[in-house]
Amino acid sequence: MPVVKDIFIALSNNKFMNESAKRMGPALGANKVVAGVDIDSTIETVEKLNMKGISCTLDNLGEFVTSRQEALEAQQNIVEIMRRNYNANIDAHVSIKLTQLGLNIDREFAYQNTREILLKAHEYGNTFVNIDAEKFEDLVGITEIIDRLKGEFKNVGTVIQAYLYDSMNIMGKYSDVRLRLVKGAYKEASHIAYQTKEEIDQNYIKLIERRLLTAKAFTSIATHDHNIINHVKQFVKDNNIDRNSFEFQMLFGFRTDYAYQIASEGYNFCMYVPFGQDWFGYFMRRLAERPQNINLMLLDIFNKKNKGKITFGATLLAGVSILIVGGISLLKKK
Ligand code: FDA
Repeated sequence: MPVVKDIFIALSNNKFMNESAKRMGPALGANKVVAGVDIDSTIETVEKLNMKGISCTLDNLGEFVTSRQEALEAQQNIVEIMRRNYNANIDAHVSIKLTQLGLNIDREFAYQNTREILLKAHEYGNTFVNIDAEKFEDLVGITEIIDRLKGEFKNVGTVIQAYLYDSMNIMGKYSDVRLRLVKGAYKEASHIAYQTKEEIDQNYIKLIERRLLTAKAFTSIATHDHNIINHVKQFVKDNNIDRNSFEFQMLFGFRTDYAYQIASEGYNFCMYVPFGQDWFGYFMRRLAERPQNINLMLLDIFNKKNKGKITFGATLLAGVSILIVGGISLLKKK
């Protein structure tokens, strides 16, 4: 299992694969988990989800931003999404990644880009802006920028990764800030993060309980894990916690029926909807989390209609073949 996870994580970090994938558009099953490449199709998806009582957080996909120009383009795209959301009067906000806004180019530049987004958010209905959690190596930069912004803006929030040993302390700093709690999606070293599912789940539950009992701001519990979700439902009931103080969140394309069911039970529910050309890294991280998601890829590869799209270049095909073999052998073991 860890080997398969490592392969997918390595692919998600491979710049050449990401660039090649960007040129061809979502393929290999990614179209099931990426809402579309443009804003129009994404807004259509949001409208459908809104009709089911589900709000959305939109992620303009983007990896490997290395120039100021790319970071500024990402910033403009995000502003444009907020403008379109506002004009379309849909229930959606944005989730952004500071690396996409130039964090690894110049921290001050990333701060200014993010601040500009928040100023524009004010114009567009004071819409909420979530700053996603990324790799541990980016945490200091992300935290520093959030700490500067949270004094000035009320509509900014961030994410706590339960796999980090320090997550409880980090969460404690943000009791008055809207937070999303997740298990954590990246590969981190054992001196930084819990490594086993049991340890991560245990810490995740501790964080959720502490947060729901003590926070002065809204909480998003972002997981597909029915054991955690059932635990939360019971916990809020036992402790008389207001349902409007939190929501559940899931990623677009995963456990959709389950998402609809939770929303229909009267819980607040928000879907994380990624869109754009830069789908490869995002898709590989989803495969790393749950290699069974390779089903999405296999179904698409063997769907004759899509055969023409599978022209990714020799390197990617070789990589994908390794993944498929790895995935199949994993599934056989289960
Ligand atoms: P996990 O993957 O541990 O699964 C637990 C169990 O749930 C499985 O064993 C299975 O039984 C069931 N299950 C899970 N997926 C299923 C499926 N598709 N079908 C059927 N059963 C399934 N990470 C990060 O580092 N920074 C961030 O900003 C974010 N943001 C974010 C937003 C949202 C809305 C979500 C849902 C997730 C994130 N993440 C994230 C990713 C997060 O950290 C984590 O990697 C994934 O959510 C996977 O962990 P789960 O909690 O879903 O359970």
